[in-house]
Amino acid sequence: MTDTFCLTVNGARHVLPHPEDRTLLDILRSELKLTGAKYGCGMAQCGACTVLVDGRPARACVLRASRAANCQITTLEGLADAETGALSPVQQGFLECEGAQCGYCLNGMVMTATALLADNPSPSREEIRAALRHNLCRCGTHLEIIASVERAAELLRGGAS
Ligand code: FES
Ligand code: FES
Repeated sequence: MTDTFCLTVNGARHVLPHPEDRTLLDILRSELKLTGAKYGCGMAQCGACTVLVDGRPARACVLRASRAANCQITTLEGLADAETGALSPVQQGFLECEGAQCGYCLNGMVMTATALLADNPSPSREEIRAALRHNLCRCGTHLEIIASVERAAELLRGGAS
């Protein structure tokens, strides 16, 4: 085993001490100070820790960081425009439609919705529900969350209002 490994996060390559069996979530939060992904259940059940690995949603709380060494990882911090700071359409949709009440589940909702809309820019309400079914919201904000994703889809298609 080598002493270091490389992780590419939000387009930046990081050389880090080998993570042994540490999780990707641990490395992101502790070593790279990227705290958008949250620790909820730690058991791949709630979605709070979701990041994109090669564009697909992944549960960073159970994914060994070493397994992601040759992948492109995107975190919540990587969604906004790096130069202007402009929010991504999904972030903007959640802002406009008040899809965030707690800020804890929000990361997983936004990341999962980002992956959904990359695949399907015009999802039906049922398709949005299906995509988000494993991201838990315990406070009853589901309707606003779905409206946020619908608004994000509209923004992605170029809709102004
Ligand atoms: S913290 Fe990873 S799924 Fe709950
Ligand atoms: S908005 Fe996070 S639990 Fe409902």
